[in-house]
Amino acid sequence: MKQTSDFLKMKEKDEKIVMLTAYDYPSAKQAENAKVDMILVGDSLGMVVLGYDSTVPVTMEDMIHHAKAVKRGAKDTFITVDMPFMSYHLSIRDTLLNGARLIQETGAHAVKVEGADEVIDHIKALTKAGIPVVAHLGLTPQSVGVLGGYKVQGKNAEAARKLIEDAKKCEEAGAFALVLECVPKQLAKEVSTSINIPTIGIGAGVHTDGQVLVYHDLLTYGVERVPKFVKQYTQLNGMIEQGLSSYVAEVKQGEFPEEKHSFSMKEEELLSLYG
Ligand code: KIV
Ligand code: NA
Repeated sequence: MKQTSDFLKMKEKDEKIVMLTAYDYPSAKQAENAKVDMILVGDSLGMVVLGYDSTVPVTMEDMIHHAKAVKRGAKDTFITVDMPFMSYHLSIRDTLLNGARLIQETGAHAVKVEGADEVIDHIKALTKAGIPVVAHLGLTPQSVGVLGGYKVQGKNAEAARKLIEDAKKCEEAGAFALVLECVPKQLAKEVSTSINIPTIGIGAGVHTDGQVLVYHDLLTYGVERVPKFVKQYTQLNGMIEQGLSSYVAEVKQGEFPEEKHSFSMKEEELLSLYG
């Protein structure tokens, strides 16, 4: 299994880091079998698994519940867990207690937090306490209300400059990797060369040190529409709908179960049942 230092080495060697989200036992097992470098138990689970409109309603209990299942499915893969909305803002003490729960109760290896500014001191405190941190800049979905929608970030020079400065602050605070979401590819390249920790992009072009996608998006599983930056490697929705409709139709028509799906008892036992 990889360690935080291995991700830094991968950047030095120009070896791409592959991150994938997982939320339960089967998706974690599949991610591990596919040899992803890092699993993210993303708070995107609020949207793709729990059916919320955003990641804001996701709780610490939700994250812990799902991260435990992921750990059972991927015992040999590095696992990062998202700290949910408002679990790392109130105070350093709250941040440390929540960060500790996320790794202690689940067996995960690191936490991820969104934003810089007030969060920088909390990244520092978590790292000092021994909890590895992945930072997350650009489009930070927990702030969707303030950002005014899911939009590309850092498009003008001023915003781009702040993002580069924020990335440096995250590195200085101790983060061992940085997720860059929905930023122009040129800016992602600039950030990636400005810091020594690896950048992991989503909607950030090809020049980041790694990539991350949401499991349900890349498999087209449950989701209806996917963002422009997603490549849909399979279309599970169609396959699943076909399978389920066939099951319903066959039961209605008496075609399922067949003989081979049924159990039998001996004739004499049947007779004595009526005797
Ligand atoms: O929650 C999530 O899935 C994420 C990734 C998109 C980076 O934060
Ligand atoms: Na997230």
